Amino acid sequence: MTSENTAGQSKQVALGVTGGIAAYKTVEILRELQKNGCRVRVCMTPRACEFIQPLTFRAISGEHVVVDDYSPDNPDPIAHITFSQTVDLLIVAPATANTIAKFASGIADDFLTSTYLASTAPVVVAPAMNTTMWLHPATARNLKRLRDDGVTIIEPEEGIMACGTTGPGRLADPQLIVRAALEILENGKQTRPSDLFGERVLITAGATREEIDPVRFLSNRSSGRMGFALAEAAQSRGAEVTLVAGATTAEVPANVRVLRATTAEEMRARVLEEISNSTIFIGAAAVADYRPITRLAEKIKKSDGHFTLTLEPTPDILAEVSRTRHEGLLVIGFAAETIDVVRHAREKLKRKNLDCVVANDVTSDGAGFDVETNIITIIKPDDAAPVTLPVMSKLDAAHRILNEIKDLRATRDGALKEGQSIARA
Ligand code: CTP
Repeated sequence: MTSENTAGQSKQVALGVTGGIAAYKTVEILRELQKNGCRVRVCMTPRACEFIQPLTFRAISGEHVVVDDYSPDNPDPIAHITFSQTVDLLIVAPATANTIAKFASGIADDFLTSTYLASTAPVVVAPAMNTTMWLHPATARNLKRLRDDGVTIIEPEEGIMACGTTGPGRLADPQLIVRAALEILENGKQTRPSDLFGERVLITAGATREEIDPVRFLSNRSSGRMGFALAEAAQSRGAEVTLVAGATTAEVPANVRVLRATTAEEMRARVLEEISNSTIFIGAAAVADYRPITRLAEKIKKSDGHFTLTLEPTPDILAEVSRTRHEGLLVIGFAAETIDVVRHAREKLKRKNLDCVVANDVTSDGAGFDVETNIITIIKPDDAAPVTLPVMSKLDAAHRILNEIKDLRATRDGALKEGQSIARA
């Protein structure tokens, strides 16, 4: 396959290398791009040169490698402008937390960051860093900003890190980075389409609190992040979104209508008020399954011996929405599990008659409550193979869930039209 631009010339790719141990893997990216007919020019941050010599890239690319555009050996006096404006794609691999932070805030204090600012070409960023740096809220915030600015992020892999620890942060497989790059070169940057325009999405999020007495309650560790990410993602794709949120610690997405509910009963009431005006319901809340039979008006006093609290089940909001659904409503549930994830999730899908279940093992690292990332499996009816996704940000996971919901909608609409034409025939 040869990558050519509209003028029939080979695609011009800028490959930015920053100071991480994975810099040696960029050689494979360069070679693969060349094999696919791209002309690749490399630029490096000064720190990247501590890990790999510019000469390596110069020898393989056959091009001058820019590190410092003020350097006297630089053939072009305004290289960051000429370079940035003559490329079809900028790839940064590995991208350190520092470079990501600079991109996010528009700092242009070296050749690579100036190129990023001066270019209108699509950008692919493949982060690689220590797990703690990757999971730091500042990095998550900066990556979110880059995504909002239209940058494609190739999530790092989980595995043994150079520092001996295990976790997410390893540079994604170079082949995967090249595949993503070639796809963008072939089809152009996929900006998020307004493919959910016309849908009205009702989402529950966060934890419910079931009161025991005026100062105590039963609850769980849900932060609301997954539901909020779904709301943000659906909103960005043109849907009208309403959130019914219980107790949450995550930041509420902008421009989304939020209704608050404390108990499962209140959440049920809010949902039932809104459901007739919705086309998609997603139950992402961690609703308490039980509540105390009575809420005591006075604070329970400590006494000697055991204390027994009698609980009763709360209403199952998801099951009720599914049971009483109006035509066209898609109903999606979550299944937080600790063992036999897919089997239990399938069982929930059947029992609650859902269109789709998003399952996760809440005990695995990088998944579940109160973390920025998730590892999900999407399960649809009809014994279709489950879609198991690697660890990714909750926002990326949200988009993958919405892609599946969009497919479900297309299948349902297709079946509806087919049914109508059979009825007419
Ligand atoms: N759910 C709900 N109302 C409840 C309990 C759960 O709407 N009272 C929804 C959750 O929002 C989630 C799904 O049901 O979408 C699954 O919740 P989960 O607690 O995992 O399943 P349960 O059906 O409660 O079964 P179990 O706790 O036994 O796994």
